[in-house]
Amino acid sequence: MTSTAGKRNESFHLPVLAEEVVKLLVTRPDGTYADLTCGGGGHMKYVSGALSEKAILVGVDRDSDAISAVLENLKSIPQEFKVFNLTFARLEDMAEKSGIGQFDGFLIDLGVSSHQINTPYRGFSFMHDGPLDMKMGFESKRSALEIINYSSERELISIFREFGEEKKAGRCGRAIIQAREKHQIKTTFQLVEILRPVLPFRELNSSLARIFQAIRITVNDELNQLKEVLSKVLSYLTVGGRLVVISYHSLEDRIVKRFMMGKAKGCICPPNFPVCACNKKPEVKILTKKAVRPLEEEIMMNIRARSARLRAVEKLG
Ligand SMILES: C[S@@+](CC[C@H](N)C(=O)[O-])C[C@H]1O[C@@H](n2cnc3c(N)ncnc32)[C@H](O)[C@@H]1O
Repeated sequence: MTSTAGKRNESFHLPVLAEEVVKLLVTRPDGTYADLTCGGGGHMKYVSGALSEKAILVGVDRDSDAISAVLENLKSIPQEFKVFNLTFARLEDMAEKSGIGQFDGFLIDLGVSSHQINTPYRGFSFMHDGPLDMKMGFESKRSALEIINYSSERELISIFREFGEEKKAGRCGRAIIQAREKHQIKTTFQLVEILRPVLPFRELNSSLARIFQAIRITVNDELNQLKEVLSKVLSYLTVGGRLVVISYHSLEDRIVKRFMMGKAKGCICPPNFPVCACNKKPEVKILTKKAVRPLEEEIMMNIRARSARLRAVEKLG
């Protein structure tokens, strides 16, 4: 198994909404910025272009292929940079290892990289045949193979319904249970062949995309990872520092939006209270009233941008 990381950095992943990220993230050219999902370093390179040589950049990714690629891709940037192979939920470990406790900006660009999707042996795509893996990093407890072959029918249905918002979740769950009575389901294409007869022909690709997304979210515990990093991130941000998050489906975006709105809210006392008893002050200012979406031109050049929604906040004092 050879990694292609580093050999084709330019195709590792095209950064989405890159100019918007730079505008919203960078407030101090000499500042310290962290990309918590650095992938091949596409966004980091853009951010580097807006910074002075005194700035510091930190990259985090749970995928070791991304770490090899970012080291190669950023080797000529003028700033000091450090990268860590960690999940972003372990923000305190990143802070400790980097020796940096306060950042001027954090970027979180959720989801998968093109490299992950386009590498058949990673098993992320229903378009390529490969082992049912889908682990983004070494710390995921169960692979897609374990989830598909050892979950109960009920668990499978709830995964497809909750994380894929798939209407035919019940039929998919039953088809998998029947198929695995005969043999273990080992590859992406075996799974596709099991699901094909129970999915509407015209929506086959979008249904398969939802099912694969649901399995990937489960394997990588993605929504809990997101909730955990959000619960910590503001304490590592300087006053006036920015948090920029790009999400790619409504489950992620809902979590991000609720978090930002909750932190932007002041007093939450019932309206009949004569004076405030909660003392809750807004912790952030929302910088994007509505989620920023890519323009048509960007989507034409990079189809993966089509579902992107960017939201940003600034930490208040
Ligand atoms: C959409 S790509 C980011 C691409 C990057 N912004 C660029 O411009 O090249 C998402 C990356 O986030 C990483 N990732 C997803 N969840 C993560 C988590 N919980 N902790 C750390 N990295 C994560 C994935 O491994 C993947 O490399």
